[in-house]
Amino acid sequence: MKVMLQKDKLEAFPSEAVVAFHFEGDEKFLRETEAIDKASGGLISEVIQAGDFQGELYQTSLIYTKGAIPAKRILLIGLGKRRDFHLDKWRGTASKAARFLRDQGVKGFSLCPYLGGERKISLEDFCQGLVEGIYLGLYEFNEFKTEEREKIKEVEAIHLVTPDEKRISRIQKAVEAAEIISKAVYLARNLVSRPANRKTPSMLAQVAKEVAENNGLRCEILNTEEMEKLGMGALLAVASGSHESPKFIILEYKPPKSRLDTVVVIGKAITFDSGGLSLKPSENMDKMKHDMGGGAAAIGVMQATSQLKLPLHLVALIPATENLPSGSAYRPGDILNSLSGKTIEVISTDAEGRLILADALAYSHRTKPKAIIDLATLTGACIIALGENVTGMMGNDDELKARVRRASDRTGEKVWELPLWEEYEEQLKSEVADIKNVGGRPAGTITGGVFLKKFAGEYPWVHLDIAGPVWAEKDKPYIPKGATGVGVRLVVQLLRDWKVGS
Ligand code: BES
Ligand code: ZN
Ligand code: ZN
Repeated sequence: MKVMLQKDKLEAFPSEAVVAFHFEGDEKFLRETEAIDKASGGLISEVIQAGDFQGELYQTSLIYTKGAIPAKRILLIGLGKRRDFHLDKWRGTASKAARFLRDQGVKGFSLCPYLGGERKISLEDFCQGLVEGIYLGLYEFNEFKTEEREKIKEVEAIHLVTPDEKRISRIQKAVEAAEIISKAVYLARNLVSRPANRKTPSMLAQVAKEVAENNGLRCEILNTEEMEKLGMGALLAVASGSHESPKFIILEYKPPKSRLDTVVVIGKAITFDSGGLSLKPSENMDKMKHDMGGGAAAIGVMQATSQLKLPLHLVALIPATENLPSGSAYRPGDILNSLSGKTIEVISTDAEGRLILADALAYSHRTKPKAIIDLATLTGACIIALGENVTGMMGNDDELKARVRRASDRTGEKVWELPLWEEYEEQLKSEVADIKNVGGRPAGTITGGVFLKKFAGEYPWVHLDIAGPVWAEKDKPYIPKGATGVGVRLVVQLLRDWKVGS
């Protein structure tokens, strides 16, 4: 798919379809809609006067122009009530329009990338939001379908049309950023969608290598031996049940400028979580291929950050392994020596995410980071607490949490904070080791966070539990059912805003 910017009048631009927007309850048309209506001899007015279209959010009406304007069709789409409108609905509208036309078999369409006269949203946000909405909404995972491939419908060309010479370079920049970010989300979604036999830790490491080669990143993959030498006893214990060897993936982006802040992004990458000897029930176990969603997002963030050439030093740490039961698997009751020096008593082998993250957190201290952000599908309890759309946030630094909140507001990736009060530490006290890996059923997400906090040390750190939003059970306006790529847009936005307020 190609997105092209054209300096022209939208109503005079030839295409298979032109998209026109309308607010519910507005007497007047938006500027571009008005121009299309006029040029077509009132085709839009006719539909509205007939009572067929009110402008409700995502309501659509397809009009054939029969040569009245150069575009073959007009897709009229509703924006809902003006006072309820915001950026996330704009992304949704762009996606709904693109999906409607794709499903019609339309291969190319044109539209203006912003709403004239709308002041609440900046020109950049409009353009980025539109292009992101289109990309993210049109995503499909077809890698493994070999039959009837000719039936797969794809949009080939999108023309962003504006006569506004003065603003074209600002628009161009926003569009480029949107494409970079959307492609990074695609990368994460593709990895999460793939089944566990097609994304073993070695395969994931290979993908990381390729991303590094294509984007000028440093890539280092630690193998079992190297992890043994370092003393990553927690990660190695989780890996011990599988024939697949674990990989500790390190990606580094360092632009040639001195004194840049270092930020570390850690992504949990359990390529399949069976629970290990604390085996999960078989129902829905297939879903546990998405237990590497944090790692996938971290790879996506690295790709986008380097392509956007952001002025900071970014390191991604991705501990990757399977969690399987076998004769060599680690056991409940085992005591592990983690890289930090702390010993961990294993209560459940299914609380494996925090074990691999403990070693990654300890490793991250080498870089003396200004911030550590971990992304992990850590607890089922987070879905119970916050639902499937919301990321649980915990951390030890108010400023960093505020940055996450701001990025959340800007991107629409919802985040809600849970507390890490000292009282919870009681639940993780072990009689035989420094800490145990499970604190019982109450506050299951929080005790996961409390465990990680012990390994984050004194560095500003935030933990994002993405167990809910990593996978969409239902279609959302611009997130098709399935892998969402959650975390990529959120963290990239945080990094783009890094200098602001620091
Ligand atoms: N990967 C799971 C968490 C998970 C569950 C993610 C459902 C997405 C959907 C994690 O490794 C796990 O099994 N956590 C346990 C923790 C418990 C043993 C303390 C859980 O949530 O039950
Ligand atoms: Zn688990
Ligand atoms: Zn897990």
